[in-house]
Amino acid sequence: MRKLSRSNEHFKKAVRKLPLGVASNFRYWGDEQTIYVDHGKGGRMWDIDGNEYIDYRLGYGPIILGYADDRVDEAAREGMKVGGVFALSTEREYEVASRISKMVPAAELIRFSNSGTEAVMAAMRVARAFTGKDGHVVMEGGYHGLSNLVMWAKEFDDWRPGRPEPAIEPVGDGVPAVTKQLFHLVPMNDANALEDLLKKKHNDIGAFLMEPIMGNCCAITADAQYMKDVREICDRYNVLLIIDEVKTGFRVAKGGVQELYGIKADLCTFAKAVGNGYPLSVVAGREDVMRHIGDGVVHGGTFTAHSVSLAAAAKTLEILDETTALADIERYGRKLQAGISGILDARDIPHSFTGVPALMGLFFADKPPANYREWVHSDYEFYDTLAPALHDQGILVEPDSREPMFLCESHNVECLAETLDKFERAVDITLPKLEAKRTGTSL
Ligand SMILES: Cc1ncc(COP(=O)(O)O)c(C=O)c1O
Repeated sequence: MRKLSRSNEHFKKAVRKLPLGVASNFRYWGDEQTIYVDHGKGGRMWDIDGNEYIDYRLGYGPIILGYADDRVDEAAREGMKVGGVFALSTEREYEVASRISKMVPAAELIRFSNSGTEAVMAAMRVARAFTGKDGHVVMEGGYHGLSNLVMWAKEFDDWRPGRPEPAIEPVGDGVPAVTKQLFHLVPMNDANALEDLLKKKHNDIGAFLMEPIMGNCCAITADAQYMKDVREICDRYNVLLIIDEVKTGFRVAKGGVQELYGIKADLCTFAKAVGNGYPLSVVAGREDVMRHIGDGVVHGGTFTAHSVSLAAAAKTLEILDETTALADIERYGRKLQAGISGILDARDIPHSFTGVPALMGLFFADKPPANYREWVHSDYEFYDTLAPALHDQGILVEPDSREPMFLCESHNVECLAETLDKFERAVDITLPKLEAKRTGTSL
């Protein structure tokens, strides 16, 4: 059994200084389950108890090559010599921006920020300036950072099809009630719902903010036809399509999710994989829209385009653009999926995969959910029971089944056999546990 005694001891100390003992609510997994990291290298992470994990969380996506990648870290050290930030620009901003435009055709003009939250806020401000409309639509189950504008949701636990829609509620305390009137929600893969909403409210709504592969909801995936309809409906109602590629960007394809769907957003946001973990985010888009920055719209920030992050991004993007890194991840992921399917099929456990191998959901039913509402009413007990068993075996996945699995270049063949071996053991620990839960017996 895995020991977390040092992590548990540290938690007791840390919680006296840091709310929940951590630096982000999502890192708190319970008083006795919260893990403190010692270090990461490649596709693996070691906690302060010395437990080693093959890591399929990868910081929720930034690590696309591997932890402490020598090539990127060397570039970052060169970036350090530049001096950090100057409240002035460096030439490298143009170099990185040009690379992004080459990889993502929709990214005609670019501005940098530090986090995904900031990039999304910037995109929405630009959209409001361009359209003159303050409202926005978001997809149910989506997550777009922590700004007030997107901290609203509907709870579907007690809802059933045919019943009145649940009310929109703030996600947590402290979200100003006045921002609610700007916020609207639609389910994924239902173009009629979007059209019905815009028919009524297109004079107030200027942006549709969405992810075609939901990076925070089991990688639930939009149909190709839905995305075509979305593009067309947005154009018809003078609503800007903002594709949030904070998780999918430079991960699911060189040109992000827009390349997979052959679609161009009006604005798009990137963050996680841009610098293989060094903090840099991007708001990008159509030139006529982006030119509002500097011509009315204010955008900036003290730490924007820090020389270390910029150097790391230049190297990361060079590797992603010019090597087979993403194709290698895809190949690894296909083998992983085949191996997992073999194990589950041998035990007659229905399952399906969502998203793409680099960002994939594992779902314990033949057919994955088409949207968040369906996910809420799906059976995720198998996942919830399997995840801690995987942790004990040394495979790190998110305890919450909404978070997909992330793969990186360093998850090479060596990780495959070990992952599958440990996955099989975890499944065989999970099955009797579930049976005991169902029959009310103790193991
Ligand atoms: C799609 C998406 N947008 C925005 C964000 C916010 O990014 P950050 O945590 O860097 O602020 C996230 C974070 O997970 C995200 O997944």
